[in-house]
Amino acid sequence: MNNYPCKLFDQLTLNTPLILASGVSGNSDSLLVRAARSGAAAVTTKGFTLKYRKGADNPVSTDWGCGLITNLGLTNPGVDSMKYMLSAYVEKAGDEAVPVFANIYADTAEEFAELTRKTAALNPVLIEADLPAPDENLASEVTRAVCENAAGIPVSIKISPDCCRISRLAEAIRDGGASAITAVNPIPGMLIDAYAAKPFLSNGTGWISGPALKPIALNVIGELYQAVDLPIIGVGGVMSGLDMAEMLMAGARCVGVGSALYYEGYSAFSRIMNEFSAFMESEGYRDLDEIVGKIWWKS
Ligand SMILES: Cc1cc2nc3c(=O)[nH]c(=O)nc-3n(C[C@H](O)[C@H](O)[C@H](O)COP(=O)(O)O)c2cc1C
Repeated sequence: MNNYPCKLFDQLTLNTPLILASGVSGNSDSLLVRAARSGAAAVTTKGFTLKYRKGADNPVSTDWGCGLITNLGLTNPGVDSMKYMLSAYVEKAGDEAVPVFANIYADTAEEFAELTRKTAALNPVLIEADLPAPDENLASEVTRAVCENAAGIPVSIKISPDCCRISRLAEAIRDGGASAITAVNPIPGMLIDAYAAKPFLSNGTGWISGPALKPIALNVIGELYQAVDLPIIGVGGVMSGLDMAEMLMAGARCVGVGSALYYEGYSAFSRIMNEFSAFMESEGYRDLDEIVGKIWWKS
């Protein structure tokens, strides 16, 4: 089977274009190791904040039929714990360790600057900063704050799809110095328990991921691909090798998987990669350069 090596930047080529998205494996070094052993070409941590956050009370997540709705309330042990998690990951994974993308979240550009300094000291191959709101001015401030404090480590800014001017957002991120854009975060939503006459999740609203997110993600990735010349890490509703091919054709350079692991466990990595390989072979694509952004090429 061809693994389709994926050159994300000059400094970073992944064994395959399939990676673990942020969150579904929590902040567990053992689950990152499982993802690496199961075929993820890179693993993304769950989002770390400057300080410990307890997170939301249960219920925080459920399968509603077309995907997941989740609101964990940013539960995490704080960035100072990331050091222990990453060293445990490296030790347990040994020769099977794959590159780590460190996902971080803050409310302001100032907080992002401090959080980035602490994260960069741990030397991940990429810092993925989760943009708090899809606003061009904020995107510009946050991107600059993260890039200026990343000590040369490449930065990807992760965006939400609920933005009407994706191209302006993308330009702000590019001009701020980011090396990549991750698209997309889940979209806001709500479930109601009619018998209890109240929202299902403890926090009221949550974020929708899984199959329902795929067409929204494809649309955003397509807009990004046409707007800026930055590698795109595509995430949102990838459940099969065909979904993966579609996301690459929209313009993603590599593809993250999240909710699929909730439904299937870590065997999803090898199944999706096998399906993708079969698609590439049956359709005669020899490498990723022949498929990335394919739907936009003029014949
Ligand atoms: C349980 C859960 C936790 C998540 N936590 C984070 C997080 O901490 N930071 C982040 O940027 N994205 C987080 N995400 C979003 C995912 O990384 C991804 O963008 C989203 O789920 C869409 O991909 P999917 O449809 O494959 O799940 C989380 C998603 C889920 C389902």
